[in-house]
Amino acid sequence: MPNALNLSFPHPDVAVVTFDLPGKGANILSLSVLQELGAILDQLAPRKDLAGLVVRSGKPGTFIAGADIREFLASLGAPKSEVVAMCRRGQSLFQKLSQATFVTVAAIDGICVGGGAELAIWCDRRVMADQPKTEFGFPEVKLGLYPGWGGTVRAPRIVGLANALEMITTGDNVDCRAALTMGLASDVVPADKLLDSAIAVIRAEKVSGQYLKDRELWSRPIDANPTELGFLGATASAMIQNETKGNYPAPAAALELMLETCQLPADEALEREAAGMADLFGSPVNAALINVFFLTDRNKRDTGLDKQGIAAAAIKSVGVIGSGIMGGGIAGATLKSEVPVALTDANAEALARGAKQLLEEAAYNRKLKGPDVQKALKLAPLLSVTHREEEIATADLVIEAIVENPDAKKKLFARLEPLLKPEAILASNTSTIPITRLAEGLKRPERFCGIHFFNPVRRMKLVEVIRGAKTSDETIATAVAFAKRIGKSPIVVNDGPGFLVNRLLFPYMNEAIELLCDGASIKEIDRAATAFGMPLGPIALYDLVGLDTATYAGMTMYQAFPDRVVASPLVPAMVKQGRLGQKSGRGFFNYQNKKARAEDDPEMGRFIATYRRGQRKFTRDELTNRLFLPMLLEATRMLAEKIVRDVRDVDLGLIFGLGFPPFKGGLLYWADTIGAKKLLELIKPLEPLGARFQPTPLLLEMAKEGRKFYPLSPGPQAGQPGAAT
Ligand code: NAI
Repeated sequence: MPNALNLSFPHPDVAVVTFDLPGKGANILSLSVLQELGAILDQLAPRKDLAGLVVRSGKPGTFIAGADIREFLASLGAPKSEVVAMCRRGQSLFQKLSQATFVTVAAIDGICVGGGAELAIWCDRRVMADQPKTEFGFPEVKLGLYPGWGGTVRAPRIVGLANALEMITTGDNVDCRAALTMGLASDVVPADKLLDSAIAVIRAEKVSGQYLKDRELWSRPIDANPTELGFLGATASAMIQNETKGNYPAPAAALELMLETCQLPADEALEREAAGMADLFGSPVNAALINVFFLTDRNKRDTGLDKQGIAAAAIKSVGVIGSGIMGGGIAGATLKSEVPVALTDANAEALARGAKQLLEEAAYNRKLKGPDVQKALKLAPLLSVTHREEEIATADLVIEAIVENPDAKKKLFARLEPLLKPEAILASNTSTIPITRLAEGLKRPERFCGIHFFNPVRRMKLVEVIRGAKTSDETIATAVAFAKRIGKSPIVVNDGPGFLVNRLLFPYMNEAIELLCDGASIKEIDRAATAFGMPLGPIALYDLVGLDTATYAGMTMYQAFPDRVVASPLVPAMVKQGRLGQKSGRGFFNYQNKKARAEDDPEMGRFIATYRRGQRKFTRDELTNRLFLPMLLEATRMLAEKIVRDVRDVDLGLIFGLGFPPFKGGLLYWADTIGAKKLLELIKPLEPLGARFQPTPLLLEMAKEGRKFYPLSPGPQAGQPGAAT
């Protein structure tokens, strides 16, 4: 295997180690790469003639994208002593950079995260390329870990405890400007001056000797008084609790560790860091988050097709019809990615409103917390707002987002299709109408598919690409590639009622109403869901979606699955009362009255009471089982019907589309942690409730054969390239 690291000497007294993993787009720190680094550092150690060493990447725009997660996966079951030893080995390897007889400088161009950030922080100095891709961070908490190769010890000593705590407990990256301000970077320079600047830093440090003073300083405890530490600890702890709801142990563990170890000499702090890692590494949350990492990683590589050799067509322009909530959002996301977009709407006012909103959204800058005027000026020429469908029809891809009415959509397609280029793709954003049905009457149904975005488009990464009965592979490949191009995570779903996400959402929402009618309170039901880890309880979700929309979606599901959907009269009755949810100010909650619950309002309480069949008390476990087991059973039906190509699409779809808790790894991953046999035991007492609780043939078969949903380990499939953070 060719080397990942090259050693060169641009000057006789300056060594340069260049990370350049052969055949890979990014550098990752695998065991073999670390071994190579160790060998080079040992080789250089005796060189008294060296002034300095520069560590850099041979891949412009990426420094080091982290450690090799496949190796984490392989070590998940390692005994605690081995986890501690792994950390200690990493620490002592990187420590060589801060103990060398010469100055060590990391020259960082592009992403520098995880193990890469730890390597860089062990160097005496860091010089960064002044470009937007240069970001520095410790994302380990996103995998249920904290930096364990010295990051929790070095970072606070270099950038101060408050900055280090923020970076490590949130896992958020900082850009090169922020890095400079906090003293993480000693210089920020143009990318083409990076090496020269790093060498200049070596020369300057050799003269001033400041790096030796800093080495001494950073080996000691941090100078912080107990009041400061107490204040910092209390603030950070409150923020972490608010963010994690106690479901993600790593940020709190990092906080506790860093508050304690900042008061110790660095060597002792390193020992504690390694010891504490043994509690996190291999924990259920760590394993679940690693699964989520691989779900996302697989999604990035997935072309949407199982066969090879089908190329996606380039989409150079997009037309969007309907400039309401969804059409505006879709056009905004497209424009943001600098793909020319034309937007139209039958209603002139809606079109003007949509166009203004979409430009603001496309130019939105997170850091500015508002639109970036420069970006808006750059994007404006790519947007065309038009009343002419002919103009929309010149696009490579036309996405329809008009009212959810099959006749209106079909009428539009009949007018539009003859105007399209023969190779153009036509897509619908419908949330409920079967794609195959919408394709009836089209001359080129093979070039038609669903591209189902989620609301709000700006925030929701998931896109379902729906394959109708006649949709071609090329169309799917192109829709998938387009969704990725505009920053989304597409999953391919075969046509069917509710597609993937809404079909799995429905049993859960449906059961929430059944529980309410059986006597559970709104508070108990929503709390059971949020305690499970859902961002919102199902009853609150009814109000967010709108009870009218939910009734309509419910009818679609009822028509498709009358045996499993309980058509409760409660929700339609509330719609009749004008209780539509947030949009009308009242639903299950009263938004004019500090979100009071409907059942606490005497009039509404009586109304709900008329739909109650009983006043049973439920335990938390009963509520959880009633809410999530129907969702799981429905997922097993979808797998059997081959609505999705892979169990991982179900899990990714629910995490990105519904906020299914990532710390549970996904619905089917979570089910695997329980096991099919045990699941059947949990379902048994619920069976009398109806067909929705009938064990499915797939689950029965899995229990009999002792099988899991994830056939392999949750990592990449055999033959797939690996991954890194
Ligand atoms: P909306 O009511 O906000 O916007 C629809 C727009 O289409 C309106 O501005 C209307 O003037 C325009 N329109 C109606 N008929 C037209 C025609 N024949 N030609 C041109 N323009 C026409 O609706 P929304 O919420 O944006 O939904 C659009 C589509 O997206 C629907 O199919 C809906 O099911 C789907 N969808 C909606 C989601 C949501 O949360 N709102 C989520 C995912 C999909």
